[in-house]
Amino acid sequence: MKKFVIQGGTALKGEVEISGSKNACLPIIASTLLVKGETILHNVPLLRDIETMINLLKVIGARIKRENHTLIINTRTIDNTEIPYDLVSTMRASILVMGPLLARAGAVKISRPGGCAIGSRPIDEHLKGLKSLGVFIKEQHGYIQAKVNNLTGKEIYLNEKSVTATENLLMAATMAKGETRIINSASEPHIQDLKKFLVSMGADIKEQNDITVVNGVTSLHPIEYTISRDYIEVDTFIIACAITKGNIFLKQGNWFDSQTEITKLQEIGIEIKKTPDGIRVKASNNLKPSCIKTAPYPGFPTDSQPQFTSLLSITPGTSIITETMYESRFTHIPELQRMGADIKIEAGCSAKRSSEATSFSPGNRNAIINGVEHLSGAKVMCSDIRGGASLVLAGLAAHGETEVSRIYHIDRGYEKIEEKLKILGANIKRM
Ligand code: EPU
Repeated sequence: MKKFVIQGGTALKGEVEISGSKNACLPIIASTLLVKGETILHNVPLLRDIETMINLLKVIGARIKRENHTLIINTRTIDNTEIPYDLVSTMRASILVMGPLLARAGAVKISRPGGCAIGSRPIDEHLKGLKSLGVFIKEQHGYIQAKVNNLTGKEIYLNEKSVTATENLLMAATMAKGETRIINSASEPHIQDLKKFLVSMGADIKEQNDITVVNGVTSLHPIEYTISRDYIEVDTFIIACAITKGNIFLKQGNWFDSQTEITKLQEIGIEIKKTPDGIRVKASNNLKPSCIKTAPYPGFPTDSQPQFTSLLSITPGTSIITETMYESRFTHIPELQRMGADIKIEAGCSAKRSSEATSFSPGNRNAIINGVEHLSGAKVMCSDIRGGASLVLAGLAAHGETEVSRIYHIDRGYEKIEEKLKILGANIKRM
């Protein structure tokens, strides 16, 4: 099994390019099923999850060519609407083909995704929304079978501001008859990218506060499109710079208005400046502790919480992180404790309004972090993409050697992370 071996202690210097956003690219690839023709996507990151989505579309009948970071997707004909367990079990985002397949073919049979390392991750909001649009859903032997004659616009209220539920419903609604209103819809930057893509294809989508309004059109046309840069990768590299006391430039890096974690990083003491070509980051010797609470956009992103945990574990003073989205997204903490971090997890309650989740489930919710002077290298193990990235960051800062195993998790979401870190001077090897 592959692992990273890191000798910590080198300050990162130089410049590195930020890749296309995984979480924008996944729904955009799925939504090419809405058109009959050839879509060209640029800036597609080279990631395991993207390969899984490409394989999934091939199973459906799309013909796909990849030329480095460009994908040419031909969806003129599709001949299969059944998605096997193997594809869904390796990536929950496979569920994103439901909306487009129902719009295109009126049917889909897909394995129900299970829970995963970060939590139970129900899909009740996806199914409830699709039923509102007229879809008939039956579940048997672990599969969801969905059929519809004509999708019909409706008002849908999401109990949870779910990213993929919003995306699935948005895609299904683009060609539904009449108006769909998705109330309490999520609005993460990757959803904005999907909307931009759909609108460029001819969809009629408007946003009013937390309501997404879609007026169904009769057809969409294929386009050429460039995926936006990954803001979670930006956060990760800013922290890599801060944790090693470095000075780096993130080519093509960008952040969005009211992006909470950038404000937090600046409050912690990191110098971060936007330029026309990217982001300049300079570490500080005087970091301050912080209080962080994850929430849907524009709140603090849960996908950057583990990376912040590593940074705050060597920031003097007491910091508190509250994870409100996933009951098990602290799996990196026992690993950081092995490296000498002083972190206590306080059990809390996770209140869920959705029908599938237990209404109040016990979860490890608050991490109380007392910054230590330094971490020390150890053997640690990844359980998910972002937790894995946080262990690499800790290894870059630690005294001595850190071995990070199960790095296939990291490869799902970070393009060639070790090569990028090496460009910046890090001593990291893939073994
Ligand atoms: N939820 C429900 N019912 C549903 C759907 C979600 O109760 O039907 C709850 C979840 O339990 C959770 C909250 O709503 O508490 C948010 O979950 P969401 O559905 O937004 O998660 P997701 O769409 O499955 C996406 C990203 C995740 C990211 C979350 C939160 C993609 C492909 N995945 O997941 O990304 O953590 O939104 O921002 O966009 C990652 O990239 O490492 C990753 C896990």
